[in-house]
Amino acid sequence: MTTFPRPAGQLIPPIAGISYGCDYNPEQWDEATWQEDVSLMREAGVNIVAVNIFGWASIQPTQDTFDFERLDTILDLLHANGISVNLGTGTASTPPWLTAKHPEILPIMADGTTRYPGGRQAYCPSSPVFREYAARLVDEVARRYSTHPALALWHVSNELGCHNAHCYNPESAEAFRAWLRARYTTIDALNEAWGTAFWSQKYGTFEQILPPMANLSTANPSQLIDFHRFSSDELLSLYLMEKEIIQRHSNKPITTNFMVTAHIRTMDYWQWAPHMDVVANDHYLDNRLDTPAAELSFAADLTRGLAGGAPWMLMEHSTGAVNWQPLNVNKAPGEMLRNSLTHVARGSDSLCFFQWRASVQGSEKFHSAMLPHAGTSSRKWREIVDLGSTLERMKDVAGSRVDARIAMVFEWQSWWSAEGESRPSQQVTYLNQIHSMHRALRTAGHVVDVVSASSDFSAYDLVILPGTYMLSPEQSEHLRDYVAGGGNTLVTYYSGIADTSDRVYLGGYPGAIRDLLGVTVEEFYPVDSADTVKLDPEHGDGDVLASSLWSEYLHADTAEVLYRFGTGPVQGIPAITRNAWGKGSAWYLATQLDDASLLTLVNGVTAELNIPSEFDRYSVRTQSPHELDIVRRVSAGTDGTTWVFVINHASHSVTLTAHGHELITGANVAGEFTVPAGEVRIITEGAA
Ligand code: GLA
Repeated sequence: MTTFPRPAGQLIPPIAGISYGCDYNPEQWDEATWQEDVSLMREAGVNIVAVNIFGWASIQPTQDTFDFERLDTILDLLHANGISVNLGTGTASTPPWLTAKHPEILPIMADGTTRYPGGRQAYCPSSPVFREYAARLVDEVARRYSTHPALALWHVSNELGCHNAHCYNPESAEAFRAWLRARYTTIDALNEAWGTAFWSQKYGTFEQILPPMANLSTANPSQLIDFHRFSSDELLSLYLMEKEIIQRHSNKPITTNFMVTAHIRTMDYWQWAPHMDVVANDHYLDNRLDTPAAELSFAADLTRGLAGGAPWMLMEHSTGAVNWQPLNVNKAPGEMLRNSLTHVARGSDSLCFFQWRASVQGSEKFHSAMLPHAGTSSRKWREIVDLGSTLERMKDVAGSRVDARIAMVFEWQSWWSAEGESRPSQQVTYLNQIHSMHRALRTAGHVVDVVSASSDFSAYDLVILPGTYMLSPEQSEHLRDYVAGGGNTLVTYYSGIADTSDRVYLGGYPGAIRDLLGVTVEEFYPVDSADTVKLDPEHGDGDVLASSLWSEYLHADTAEVLYRFGTGPVQGIPAITRNAWGKGSAWYLATQLDDASLLTLVNGVTAELNIPSEFDRYSVRTQSPHELDIVRRVSAGTDGTTWVFVINHASHSVTLTAHGHELITGANVAGEFTVPAGEVRIITEGAA
C-alpha cells in the first residue's frame, strides 16, 4: 500500500542511515531558544524532528484566523540547519475556542459522564463537527507545507486513541449503529452473532442498540468485542481522512505513531498497519512490569511484525524517566543506549525521543528529554551526543532485515476477548501468556517474528500460539494447512476457544483446532496463582516441570502424551502433548509453566526441530541469558553483510565467539571476546 517512492534502504527519504531525533515543541519557547536548539541538535547529530504535534491553538488561534508565521520560521530554521521535519497535522489536541463553541464534541464515558478540556484529546472520534474542523486544519497545513524542503514525513494527529479510544456519546452511539448495520445487514444476524437470546437482550431494530454503557451486571461479551472493533475502526477512519487530505497536496510518506505497549490495547493495529507508509511506534519502558527490558524486545518484535518484517520507526521513547507511572524510575548509565539499540537490533531504522528540551511548565515538566533541565553540563546530554555519533557509525545497518525462523502469534482481538468480564480465572491474562512465551524464547536465544494468526507462516519452522482464545474458521484452517505442509506449531491453553463472535466452539476445547492438536479438553480447572502444580514426564527421562494458574481435564485422542499433571486438581491427566499432522507436528501445553519450565519446553521443541539459537551460533557464555539480547540484522542486498547486536543488560560480562568489525569500539573481533556488564557490541560480519 505504499503510496510514495521509497528508495531502497531508506525508511524516510532523504535521510540515509538511521534517523535520529525527537518531538520538538517550539511553541513552548522563545525565538532565541530556537537558535540554541538547532545548534545543539546539530551537535547531537539530530536529523529529524516532529513539530506541530500540539500546534493547533498556535496556528489557528481563532476559528477564522490562521497564523503560520512562527511555524514557517521554525521549518526554515530547521531546513537551514540540515534537519528534516516530521510534520504534525496538529489535530492531536483541540483548542479551547473549539470545545467552547461545540461542547457536543466532548467524549462521554461508559457511565455517562463527560470528559472536559484541560488535558488533551478532548474529542469524540466519531464527532462530525470535530472531523469538519480537523479536516480544515489538515488541508491548510498540507497546502502550506507540502513543498517545504524540510518536509520528510507527515505525522497524522498523535497517538490516536491514547485517551479517547472509547467514547459513548450520542454521536458515537449513532456511528456504532451504522457500523453494525454495515457488518450485519439485518437485526436477526446481529441477534444471532451477539447471542441475545441470553438475558432477554434480543433487539427489534438497530435503533434500540447502545454502546456498551455501564450496567448493573456484566455486559454482553460479543457486544463488547464489536465495540472494540468499531472504536479501533473509527480512529483508523480519522487517520484515513487526514491521509486522504494530505495526499491531495503531497506525495511524502504519511504515518501516525502506534502505541505497541503493555498498557494500551484499544487499537487492532493489524487493521491499521497496511495504511501506513512507515510503521512507527512509541515505546516507553514500563517499570510496573517484572522485566521491562524483555517487554521492550517483545514490543519491538511486534512492531516489526506490523511492518511486515521491513524496517520501522521508533517515533518516541524516553532518555530517562517518564512522568506517568506511579514511580518514575530513571535510567541507569548505559540503559538508554541499551534500550535504544535493542529497538534498532529488532528492526528500527529510526530512533526518536519524546522530547527535545524538557518543558518548564505543563504536566510533562518532569518527563525526561534529550536536553534536560540541567542543560548540556549533564550526563544525559553527553549520552545523547554519544548516541548520535554511534548511529553515524551504524549508517549501513539501515535497510537490513531481522532474521527469524520462529513466529509467535499476537492478536488484539484475542486480548480483548480472552479478558472478558466473566472468565474462568481473572488471574489468567493474555499478556502474561504472551510475555512469558516471548521471554522464554528470548532467554533461549531465539529471535521471533510476532505475526497475526492470518499471516503467511511459510517462512517459519515453528509458529507458536500463546492463548489465542479467538480463532476464526479460516485462521484455524490456515494453521492446519501450514502444519500439514511440514510446519510445526506449539499452542498453549485457552486458545481456539471461540469464533469471532465470541461463540464457544462445541464438542470439547479447543474446538477450533482439536483435530490438529489431537486432544479434547472436557473442562477447565483453574489454579490459584499461589499454588504450584507439578508435571511429570511420561517417559521418565525428562525434567519434572512446575506450573500454576491453569489446568484442564484433557484426553489425548491421537496425540502422544509427553507430560502429565503430577499434582493439582487433575492429577494424572495429560498436560503436554504432541500430535503428528500431515508432514508436521502440533504441540499442546495445557497449563502456565513457570519461566524455567517453559524454557525447558521451548528448548526441547526447538532442539527437536533443529532450530539453532543465536546463543548456539555464537557460543555464548553467560550466567543470565534472560538479560541478553542477541539479534542479527542481515543486509537486504546480496553481499551477505550481517550485523550481530549483542546487548548485555546484566551486571556481569558475557563471552561469545564472532568474527568481524565491531562498531561501538571500532575494534576487529576474531574469535572469543567479552562484552562487559551493561554494554552493547555490534559486530559486522561478512562485509566485503
Ligand atoms: C506519548 C505522547 C507524547 C508524550 C509522551 C510522554 O508518547 O505521544 O506526547 O505525552 O507520551 O511519555
